[in-house]
Amino acid sequence: MEFPVRTGAPKSQKTACAILPIFEGRTLKGASHKIDSSCGKILSKLIRTSSSYGKLGQTLLIPQIKGIAAEKILLVGCGKETDFNAKALSQAVSASIAALSKVGLREATSYLAYSSIQDIDEYYKARLTAEAAQSALYRFDEIKSHTSRQTKITRLGIAVDALTKAKEARRGVSHGQAISSGMNIARDLSNRPPNICTPSHLATESQEIAKTFDNLTTKVLAEKDMERLGMGALLSVTRGAKEPAKFIIMEYKGASSNEAPIVLCGKGITFDTGGISLKPPSKMDEMKFDMCGAATVIGTMASLGQLQPSINVIGLVPACENMPGSEATRPSDIVTSMSEQTIEIINTDAEGRLILCDALTYASRYEPRLMIDVATLTGACVIAIGHVYTGLFSNNDDLASDLLEAGKRSLDPAWKLPIDEEYGVSLKSNFADFANSGAREGGASIAAQFLSRFVGKTPWAHLDIAGIAWKSNENKGATGRPVPLLMDFLLNL
Ligand code: BES
Ligand code: MN
Ligand code: ZN
Repeated sequence: MEFPVRTGAPKSQKTACAILPIFEGRTLKGASHKIDSSCGKILSKLIRTSSSYGKLGQTLLIPQIKGIAAEKILLVGCGKETDFNAKALSQAVSASIAALSKVGLREATSYLAYSSIQDIDEYYKARLTAEAAQSALYRFDEIKSHTSRQTKITRLGIAVDALTKAKEARRGVSHGQAISSGMNIARDLSNRPPNICTPSHLATESQEIAKTFDNLTTKVLAEKDMERLGMGALLSVTRGAKEPAKFIIMEYKGASSNEAPIVLCGKGITFDTGGISLKPPSKMDEMKFDMCGAATVIGTMASLGQLQPSINVIGLVPACENMPGSEATRPSDIVTSMSEQTIEIINTDAEGRLILCDALTYASRYEPRLMIDVATLTGACVIAIGHVYTGLFSNNDDLASDLLEAGKRSLDPAWKLPIDEEYGVSLKSNFADFANSGAREGGASIAAQFLSRFVGKTPWAHLDIAGIAWKSNENKGATGRPVPLLMDFLLNL
């Protein structure tokens, strides 16, 4: 989708539809006020006679309008003007796109971010508009035999009230577009069924993506390579599966080779049955989303390829299935991780940490300046903070606060949770260095504590995305989060 930045006077802007904000309270502001004066006060009359208007997300299409260059007007409720912020802007844009899709318009111009909005600048106004619009248009219909051939909007003008603001708005648009493509890649990979989206599929898709961008390469390790590297923890998870495991290494090189890279590491369990510690049937289909961490990393690498920032970033994706079977790992089996620490496998359903710990050990080869892993790691994280925030765990307060800020700015928020050593007590094993699972209480922190034993002194953060990576029920599907958070963090380094 294209987002041309429009700098002309609102009344003379040619467009199929001008998207105008309307706030609770009977006054018109900014572009709405300007346009109202040119088209016979039709908007003023409307809000004077209507009993309900301005509620956030409410829309009203005025199909014919005279006196201005726009053919139609879409009035969009933006809530109380004093409350209008980045989040409300994003919701108003989504509502506009939904309304325009219903009437099948191909083009429109948004005035929702024309006036100033508290706390955000021209860059974020444009970026969040582009992201919200593309997100609202996302559909996953590649496997439906009959897809509705709905006309989609392909151009959304973004109007700004001064020529001097156009440059920052254009930068926002280009970042928003790249972040959206990354999210779409993540959502597509995650939504695909596990009989299509296998570890091999993740590997070939990563290779295809790398081919389309400069400075991005992909290398894939096979099981025998992992054996040679001593990745005993990762290999123990894939034992019950017929599908071969893959270890995907994506490298984005935007700075000189002597600059230490950032390593991103994504959990790529393409289906989690629980293994011998089999999960109950309810909602087990959703365990196809257990590779959303991997999809986030792959999507983020693609966004980087598109934007070419001056940093070095490595994306690591350990990918396999977690299946039961006669060759599957048993509870009480003991494995040796690549770090040489031994792990007693108490519960084969605590498999994410087993593939991640070897990936984190592998990451230290790059002597990274920092590492971030992304994983649908624990049901306990969902119980703790639900479906709003990513759970953030870190051994470094500066890194944690940078990520929290990036989450706020990108409307993809994270919440910091504890990781103190005490959480590791229940991982004690009588037979190995430690166990892969412990107490139920505080399970998200216990999992993070487990991972912390594989990162040494490198600044590291763990993002538990079990609650936010996908939606259940009628809107079942991947969200593309936390690509925006990661991209915002990386672009601000
Ligand atoms: N992939 C799951 C975590 C999960 C569960 C994410 C439900 C989203 C929704 C993970 O591999 C898992 O099974 N974790 C166990 C850990 C436990 C056995 C220590 C869990 O959370 O129950
Ligand atoms: Mn599991
Ligand atoms: Zn899992």
